[in-house]
Amino acid sequence: MTPTRCDRTPAWAALQQAFDATGRTFDLREAFAADVDRFGRLSQSAPHVFADLSKNLLDPATESLLLDLARACDLEGQRDALLTGAIVNTTEHRAAMHWLLRYPAPALVDTDPIAIRNVADELAQVHATLDAMLAFAEAVRADSGITDVVNIGIGGSDLGPQMAVLALDAFVVPGKRFHFVSNVDGHELDATLRHLKPQNTLFLVASKTFTTVETMTNAHSAKAWFAAQGGTDIDHHFVALTTNVEAAQAFGIRTTFGFWDWVGGRYSIWSAIGLPLAIAIGADGFRAFLAGAHAMDEHFRSAPLESNLPVRLGLLDVWYRNFHGFTSRSIAPYHSALKRWPAYLQQLEMESNGKRVDVDGHVLPYATAPVLWGEPGTNGQHAYFQALHQGHDTVPVEFVAVKQPRHPLGGHHTLLLANALAQAQALMVGKTGADGHRHFPGNRPSTFLLLDDLNPTTLGALIALQEHRVFVSGAVWGINSFDQWGVELGKVLARDLAGRLDSGDCVGLDASTAGLLKRLID
Ligand code: F6P
Repeated sequence: MTPTRCDRTPAWAALQQAFDATGRTFDLREAFAADVDRFGRLSQSAPHVFADLSKNLLDPATESLLLDLARACDLEGQRDALLTGAIVNTTEHRAAMHWLLRYPAPALVDTDPIAIRNVADELAQVHATLDAMLAFAEAVRADSGITDVVNIGIGGSDLGPQMAVLALDAFVVPGKRFHFVSNVDGHELDATLRHLKPQNTLFLVASKTFTTVETMTNAHSAKAWFAAQGGTDIDHHFVALTTNVEAAQAFGIRTTFGFWDWVGGRYSIWSAIGLPLAIAIGADGFRAFLAGAHAMDEHFRSAPLESNLPVRLGLLDVWYRNFHGFTSRSIAPYHSALKRWPAYLQQLEMESNGKRVDVDGHVLPYATAPVLWGEPGTNGQHAYFQALHQGHDTVPVEFVAVKQPRHPLGGHHTLLLANALAQAQALMVGKTGADGHRHFPGNRPSTFLLLDDLNPTTLGALIALQEHRVFVSGAVWGINSFDQWGVELGKVLARDLAGRLDSGDCVGLDASTAGLLKRLID
């Protein structure tokens, strides 16, 4: 049964009333002055992640209404459907079981909930593939002849492994370099290949479908380069990570690691798509990464809604998007190794929830996913934080900071953490200035996520937290968070235009596209 649409529930009306009465004029400084326990009430620990939500335009009464909304939208039922392998991706008639990829080995199945026993076959396949992939990763790590690993993939087949390999740089095996080629722009592949020798290079062709034009174009060019440079033994130098093993074999790759159609591209880092990470951090590291995510899965599955961190974050997103009308969220990782964290979250949230129709295809009258953007701190401070502090729009900021550094350089980490704290503080408290130019209005919201250490386990938990948070807002909005039809039209048009760039045929094109095309071929 489809749950009641969120904007038709009494809870939505109550939230609108609360927003009109106190939400619109909510002042963080007054809220802290009125409630000495505000930090305690609006912060919490979840597995491997501490979250301070207290600098948000939110009070416990509003949170309680948001929880009513979640219940009215049957969030618990929708969560249970996700976590029991129901067909939640209805337009593609698929389950979304990325969580199963980090579920412990099947030996535990007898003691596991009935829901897990129902997917015992899938779980057994997951672990068989995982064991094989990790054995392969260990063999590559031990092979000193392979100095360069090149991942060729795009979207979820690039962003997850790239973000995670960079994030876990402190754990990466010495003696190997990792490269990520995603763009169909040949400059990227060319710049990578220029420094490589075929006999020392392992290419991982990562594509769920093994049809994506960018990846196939790059893979064909890499194969041609390999042969042209005198490379031999392609079986030793090309591996495919895909659900389409047949297509990989037709391409000429014999070593393949598979996964399943119930793993969405942007949720696939836990599958064979994670092979670059597994090579980088080793089998034990990859298992720790899965364990961190699993701990967050169990939190999401079992914690009461009011102390369930993905639920609280997802509901806050609804509050900001639909009542405050905030159109974007800035992602501010205060750790340089998290440089691809904003890009990773862009795909996760905007490809999942950037939708204007409900699960039945009906146009919705309310907004869904905000725009996500950002850069690591402190760099962002010297670029766009000006606008965050004094610009016209209120943009909620999501900080991520890490308590312990993994480098020996004195002084740096204290300064980094001080800056993260200072920015969150400045956004909130503001400053009365001598004139308009020096005035900071303050009352600008932020969330502060804190890890004790950035390691495979904590990174796994942090990613799973974000996956579930996106699911929560999508479930309240009543949209299908697991399809991505919005990327299709451009692909079709690009195919047509590639032909026209060769032929010069402009018939039927709009005047602007035709004009540009002519300039390109003249
Ligand atoms: O951009 C659309 C998309 O399908 C993403 O969802 C996916 O992560 C990416 O393309 C790559 O797809 P594939 O892994 O099949 O090459």
